[in-house]
Amino acid sequence: MYVHLPFCARVCDYCNIPNIVEYSPEVDGYVDKLVRQIRQTPLESVGAVYIGGGTPTLLTPRNLSKIMGAIRNLTLSDRATITIETSPEAATNEKVRVLQDLGFNSISVGVQTLEEDILHHMGRTGNPSRSLEAFDAVSRFEHVNVDLIYGLPGQSCESFMHDVATFCPQADSITLNRWKTNFPKGRSLLERLQNVSIPTLEDCSEMYRDAVALLNDAGYKPYLLETFSRGNPGPYQRDFFALRDNVVGVGAGATSIRAQTLSTNVQLAETFDPDMPEIVSVPLQCCQEPYFRLGILRDGRICMKKLKEFEEDCGVTLAKASLLRSGALVEREGSLIINPEDSSIGLQLFYKEVMQ
Ligand SMILES: C[S@@+](CC[C@H](N)C(=O)[O-])C[C@H]1O[C@@H](n2cnc3c(N)ncnc32)[C@H](O)[C@@H]1O
Ligand code: SF4
Repeated sequence: MYVHLPFCARVCDYCNIPNIVEYSPEVDGYVDKLVRQIRQTPLESVGAVYIGGGTPTLLTPRNLSKIMGAIRNLTLSDRATITIETSPEAATNEKVRVLQDLGFNSISVGVQTLEEDILHHMGRTGNPSRSLEAFDAVSRFEHVNVDLIYGLPGQSCESFMHDVATFCPQADSITLNRWKTNFPKGRSLLERLQNVSIPTLEDCSEMYRDAVALLNDAGYKPYLLETFSRGNPGPYQRDFFALRDNVVGVGAGATSIRAQTLSTNVQLAETFDPDMPEIVSVPLQCCQEPYFRLGILRDGRICMKKLKEFEEDCGVTLAKASLLRSGALVEREGSLIINPEDSSIGLQLFYKEVMQ
């Protein structure tokens, strides 16, 4: 089950998550509707719950407890992971205690960068020491993921390596997000930051490669292209939609996957009505989940346009001939596909090629 809470203390200038609104007392009404929707959702067994947003940890203990009460009434499997997303500011010691008492066992912290100046000109509240305190506070969770962004205005390869090194090997997984600006707010931020040096494509590819090398040395393995994990891969959002065939999304803006179809309730937080959802659906085979950046479609075919974008973005060239030789990819009816005979090995070889 994916539970969406599109509220944040302040909407960051760089954020590409759609329809986030500022946290306000109206959230109480949203939570009541959400709880009703969870109660009305017939589910036989739930293997994992992901509460994302937004910054769901901003919710009061009372609202978090209402949501968890409804979740606990579902049939959760024994080893169900219950994950929540947080910003460092919202992960106070007190809030972390509340989350643990309520039964959350996994958390994803959006650190983004430890450079105070960059946080500031990206329109993000918080500071590096708060991020480190928050990381300390969440260390008692079974799974801890840290989100970092590279390619930010004013960021150097050294500063990004420092960010990555700070969290490994303690974080169970680290997600490296390339800064994306292909949305209206992102473009206006770029215009506003004309006096700040923006890392070039070559800089970004150096940051990515050096970070991957550092993570490899620290025992992290590529899990999804941007997420690297030690030990058991964590139950994080991208994987949630990437690796599952059955996801029930609740809340305004939440996505579900069922019957080979990806459906999003496109309602806004303000107009959320669980009884009359407005659903936009796309057949899974047409969408680029799970490995969308790499251009691997759900049915294993490779979307060459996406793959090319990825190569340009990260400054790598995938040697398709060697991938075909190694058996990672095979040709079927004019398309390149991940070897269906052993897709996990195919994917690993594919990753290996990308990582070189
Ligand atoms: C839904 S946010 C949740 C985390 C939490 N709200 C926070 O920011 O601390 C998930 C992640 O998306 C990533 N993200 C947001 N805007 C981005 C952008 N423009 N480019 C790349 N990654 C972005 C950030 O790394 C963020 O941690
Ligand atoms: S706190 Fe996270 S979700 Fe909220 S606006 Fe900032 S990056 Fe986006």
